[in-house]
Amino acid sequence: MGNLMLFLCLHFVMLSILAEEQRDSNVELNHMQFGSFIDPSSLSEPAVAEGPLLHSEVTMLSNSTQMGGPLRFAVDHFANEQQCRDLTEFALNAGVLGDGYSGKASPNTEHELFQGLSIYTATELAIKGKVPVKVAALYFDLSEQVRQQVKLYFKLEELYPHYTHLVCRTSITNQTDRSDLSLPIHADNCNLQPNGSCLKHQNSLYWRDYSAILYLNEDFNGGEFIMADSNAEKITMHMKPKCGRLAGFCSGKQCSHGIKPITKGSR
Ligand SMILES: *[C@@H]1O[C@H](CO)[C@@H](O)[C@H](O)[C@H]1NC(C)=O
Ligand SMILES: *[C@@H]1O[C@H](CO)[C@@H](O)[C@H](O)[C@H]1NC(C)=O
Ligand SMILES: *[C@@H]1O[C@H](CO)[C@@H](O)[C@H](O)[C@H]1NC(C)=O
Repeated sequence: MGNLMLFLCLHFVMLSILAEEQRDSNVELNHMQFGSFIDPSSLSEPAVAEGPLLHSEVTMLSNSTQMGGPLRFAVDHFANEQQCRDLTEFALNAGVLGDGYSGKASPNTEHELFQGLSIYTATELAIKGKVPVKVAALYFDLSEQVRQQVKLYFKLEELYPHYTHLVCRTSITNQTDRSDLSLPIHADNCNLQPNGSCLKHQNSLYWRDYSAILYLNEDFNGGEFIMADSNAEKITMHMKPKCGRLAGFCSGKQCSHGIKPITKGSR
């Protein structure tokens, strides 16, 4: 194994790009090309775009009304128990401490460890024979299915993949009365300001338009996904992770979000 992973893995995040053309960024999947593009200005409309589900196993959990804001949805049964177990075990064996955070093991809170694994790393490990190709392929395939579901639900002409990360957050201090968050309230494509504005060019990921998270487990305490109003002042929605639950949402300030502290176990 490349790097020993000591903790259970927990969720699987996909962040997507919608753009005129593939950009030169650290895009793991940037060899993939997908058709034409949508006019990004149309994204400012908080459209009700409740498109179809990807396949018959997938069930609707919440639409935008039920999630208290525009451009968001959640479905269940997007992955089955076996797939959740396989990806969890994969992360256990191959996850990298501080991945994506310059190796900082606790980038957001001293109470948790952060581990991650990109599709690129997963593919390299499979090519070197260090992990089964089948499992690396599952990671890639689910990422691609998530992209298709987000594209379908929001009725987009095209949605380009930008970055996928298999991520695990583990409680290391067992404190139940934490006042911090596992991940502070933020917007994915801009930098929220105290006055409520969100500055796009102060965030290196300003080209992102949609984000999605596919959860792989529920055997931990805390760790609810939360969404806030666009001033990031009031929490407007809580969602408990579980295997196969997928949340898709816009990357702008309308969809500010964070993670409640994980007080026991790994998410
Ligand atoms: C979401 O679902 C609820 C309950 O079925 C429905 O009343 C509401 O109109 C839906 N919202 C949208 C935006 O479709
Ligand atoms: C937290 O609890 C787990 C089991 O409940 C235990 O194994 C671990 O040592 C504890 N960690 C700390 C830092 O107390
Ligand atoms: C909000 O604050 C930012 C700097 O933090 C500033 O650039 C922006 O102009 C301010 N917006 C308003 C509407 O005051």
